Amino acid sequence: MAVQINPSILSADFSRLAEEAKAVDGADWLHVDIMDNHFVPNLTLGVPVVESLSRAAGTPLDCHLMIEDPDRWAPAYVEAGAGSVTFHAEAAAAPVRLAREIRAKGARASMALKPATPIEPYEDLLPELDMLLVMTVEPGFGGQAFLDVMLPKIRRTRELIARNGLELWLQVDGGVSASTIERCAEAGADVFVAGSAVYGADNPAAAVEALRNQAEE
Ligand code: DX5
Ligand code: ZN
Repeated sequence: MAVQINPSILSADFSRLAEEAKAVDGADWLHVDIMDNHFVPNLTLGVPVVESLSRAAGTPLDCHLMIEDPDRWAPAYVEAGAGSVTFHAEAAAAPVRLAREIRAKGARASMALKPATPIEPYEDLLPELDMLLVMTVEPGFGGQAFLDVMLPKIRRTRELIARNGLELWLQVDGGVSASTIERCAEAGADVFVAGSAVYGADNPAAAVEALRNQAEE
């Protein structure tokens, strides 16, 4: 499966979002972190900004919802133009129904696991999903250190996907950089979110290609 690099605009300059989106034109998806000050102790942006960004960015949007009650709010992000919508397993009341609704509205459906949430209870849900996100930091902030204790979970998730004969993508998010991406790829991840490692670089587009080359090795 081809490697995908998704820069996270959480580390971009929010006053110049369209320009910052265009600065990573070669990226596969633009990762948009939606935070509500309840599910995580931070607040970012919502549906109107996603709507504008989906028109302005030349890259499809991968919306990561770190919010309470995604069952109620996730469909609006599909309508706002997101190509992929990720809800958290810890927050969703009815994950199967929600994944089906996201897909029926025309986006890829994805579910995220916080570091302390195991994958095993969710094995039977995997066919309902297009992607699974294994968080490699506690969600809420960019620039945190990569939790290498998550590598076994990435490996077990990849094995579960293979054992069930599925093709869903396996995304990692948090602390992904030149010094950690190879371990993530080796453990079985194929979609890499990188915030500070891309937008903290002098040349964000070059940073995307450097990460891609490292992950493909
Ligand atoms: C954290 C967010 C991440 C964040 C990653 O809660 O979900 O997407 O932007 O930032 P870095 O790559 O700097 O750890
Ligand atoms: Zn994220």
